[in-house]
Amino acid sequence: MAKKPTSIFICQNCHARYPKWTGRCDQCGEWNSLEEETLTPTPSKAQPGKRGTGLKTTRLDGTATPPPRLNTSMAELNRVLGGGLVPGSVVLVGGDPGIGKSTLMLQMTCALAKAHHNVLYVSGEEAIDQIRLRAQRLELDKDPKALDQLDLAASINVNDIATTLEENRSLHVVVIDSIQTMWLESVASAPGSVSQVRNCAFELIRLAKTLGFALILIGHVTKEGALAGPRVLEHMVDAVLYFEGDRGHQFRILRAAKNRFGATDEIGVFAMTDTGLREVPNPSALFLAERHGNIAGSAVFAGLEGTRPILLEVQVLLSAKSSDGAPRRAVLGWDSSRLSMILAVLEARCGLKLGSMDVHLNITGGLKINEPAADLAVAAALISAATGQPTAPHEAYFGEIGLSGEVRQVSQTAVRLKEISKLGFKQAVIPRHVGTATARPKGPATLTIAETGHLSDLVR
Ligand code: TYD
Ligand code: MG
Repeated sequence: MAKKPTSIFICQNCHARYPKWTGRCDQCGEWNSLEEETLTPTPSKAQPGKRGTGLKTTRLDGTATPPPRLNTSMAELNRVLGGGLVPGSVVLVGGDPGIGKSTLMLQMTCALAKAHHNVLYVSGEEAIDQIRLRAQRLELDKDPKALDQLDLAASINVNDIATTLEENRSLHVVVIDSIQTMWLESVASAPGSVSQVRNCAFELIRLAKTLGFALILIGHVTKEGALAGPRVLEHMVDAVLYFEGDRGHQFRILRAAKNRFGATDEIGVFAMTDTGLREVPNPSALFLAERHGNIAGSAVFAGLEGTRPILLEVQVLLSAKSSDGAPRRAVLGWDSSRLSMILAVLEARCGLKLGSMDVHLNITGGLKINEPAADLAVAAALISAATGQPTAPHEAYFGEIGLSGEVRQVSQTAVRLKEISKLGFKQAVIPRHVGTATARPKGPATLTIAETGHLSDLVR
């Protein structure tokens, strides 16, 4: 009989498994991504004759109490968490290296400690002195109330951390910075590999569930956008939050990708400053603060991030083709194939020939939008740039554009209209209402609504 394999090779990129090492993963094509991991024997068969205990089932109706919440004192963070941190829950905070995860979590731990919760911050990346220096820079070390209940430790050894947690049962919140640095002696591979990350996380999550503290795992994201190695982690935790933003910009967005205790697609907006992350309660005002109303090629879009409306400026610059080849399409913060589509629709349905021009499109503030609802604002900015006529300064747009140039309805009209009016805009250009299933949208009284059915209305 053939000997049972004792180890297996796992692609660190796509998690494909191979019995033998190869230089290139057949599944995802990545080079040198295979790592050897030892197989832990699993009991092959349930023991005969041994039966489980019957479950006590229950009815669907009955009283359900919502989980209690720890207030993090940061409204933006609370919202993304679904109203605060749930005791005993496990949250994964992912993001690019250097985006500000450690800073955000240190600020949160201090705020929680100040509110009389016992917090432990374990860093596998930085020494205690480095954390102290950061705290000094953020002026977090000035508050004696916070310092009494916040403990720091620098370690990568999960066994040591587990013993510490078992001995100190009064902890409410534990932060692990980061899960990729953690290491379990019993697992043969190096820190950061799939099995280390999975096993370390499993052990820490088990402790969180048995001891009842809220666990926050910080994780790095690879350049492809997946949480490095541990995509499996996403299934093990209660909530996955991504911290993202453009390095050149001061804005940072915290986005819930999964949340068992709240809505996903919720965002929190922060601004990076010398003294740490500052919350931005009214992002629309901030994103529009530097807008010059009387310049051609700009239009305001009323977008939606999760449940939250946000107004953004779409800027377009047209210039004569700079090279012999295809014209340039430089797009920041939006989908370039949608831009090509709108250019084609403008040309085919409205006779606006922009195909031979270089087009630069930018969403100000470094935000990325992926809603088709931005089509109308992009078209308005393009038309304005082409005609040299600025859009009306008190006008905002939203609506999807179809291939025949028709303007289609989008979701959450009322919420968008409310935000437009809140920021002092006088007119909203929105899709024409069709159908009788839903009521004709009514905005706030101070807002004029211009319904458009076709893109050519906008050109006129
Ligand atoms: P850091 O929190 O260490 O990022 P991460 O843990 O995601 O790798 O932050 C990266 C750098 O940015 C660090 O040198 C501190 C600096 N920084 C500020 O100066 N102000 C801020 O508000 C933030 C968030 C970071
Ligand atoms: Mg860090």
